[in-house]
Amino acid sequence: MPDKWVYVTRNIPQPGLAKLAEQFNIETYQSDEAIPHDVLVSAMKGKRYDALLCMLTDQIDEEVLDAAGPQLKIVATMSVGYEHINLQECGKRNILVANTPGVSTDSVAELTATLLLMTARRVTEGVEAVKKGEWGPWKPMWLCGTELTGRVLGIYGLGRIGFNVGRRLKPFGFSKIYYTDVHEVSYAKDIDAEFVDFDGLIEKCDFICVCCNLTPQTRHMFNAEVFKRMKKGAILINTGRGGVIDHEALTEALRNGDITGAGLDVTEPEPLPPTHPLVSLPNCVILPHMGSNTWDSRNAMAEIAAKNCIAAISDQTPEGIVAA
Ligand code: DGY
Repeated sequence: MPDKWVYVTRNIPQPGLAKLAEQFNIETYQSDEAIPHDVLVSAMKGKRYDALLCMLTDQIDEEVLDAAGPQLKIVATMSVGYEHINLQECGKRNILVANTPGVSTDSVAELTATLLLMTARRVTEGVEAVKKGEWGPWKPMWLCGTELTGRVLGIYGLGRIGFNVGRRLKPFGFSKIYYTDVHEVSYAKDIDAEFVDFDGLIEKCDFICVCCNLTPQTRHMFNAEVFKRMKKGAILINTGRGGVIDHEALTEALRNGDITGAGLDVTEPEPLPPTHPLVSLPNCVILPHMGSNTWDSRNAMAEIAAKNCIAAISDQTPEGIVAA
């Protein structure tokens, strides 16, 4: 269909571009950086695109959709998260929205387990100490962390990623795994995880992994009042979305010792400025939203996003449909 056009908002891995190029004309914002919103709006006005392949940094709002025009069939995001897309406005215009579920499950689950271990065992403090020449003769109480064995693991959001985090962490010998979600799920039994409500999760668990989406319901679920009720030794890990945690409250909780540590791969805002108080706290490990940064995941994400565009333009149902 050489008369069809797809706009891609960033340089993406080759497998995705190659798939699209087999069938359509492609226009790409040739950069590794996010496209400014006004540039995206102008690009949409410039040509009549049939599909828009975007990233989680692109706000797909009314202005972009108006500029795109009525022939736009799909907004295909190269991400699992889709909170940057105005689903309601897409719905009104009969524009499909699709994401890339499944292909980053392993990469994000692996990074979640990594971050939990790094935070519990104070790995970044150790690395920093070596670099700064602070590694002196052996000391009995230096850089002591928290063992996983015998402790209680909590998973907030037992979807694909949450379940796979549980699967990877279970062999460490937790005494119990609890999870909280909107409802109980049958596959929880495969990791011997027990359903609890949010109060149960925050009061019982030594480690809590946040693996949920950002929705109006999950926004700032972890706030000052919650931190006061968590165990003092608790460690909070977030690889879901930054907005689930109130960062000001987290800063205070880590400073006051309401909880022991936090490991964040997602923050609010992103990027988190180096001057943010959380950055200088030794008990907070911060990574730059790199959960799905493996070639395996990123190639597959690009390919699925491309396939979703192809499906929609060909009047087929895309794989990762979020809203119709
Ligand atoms: C996603 O897919 O939503 C991740 O957060 C980024 O890869």
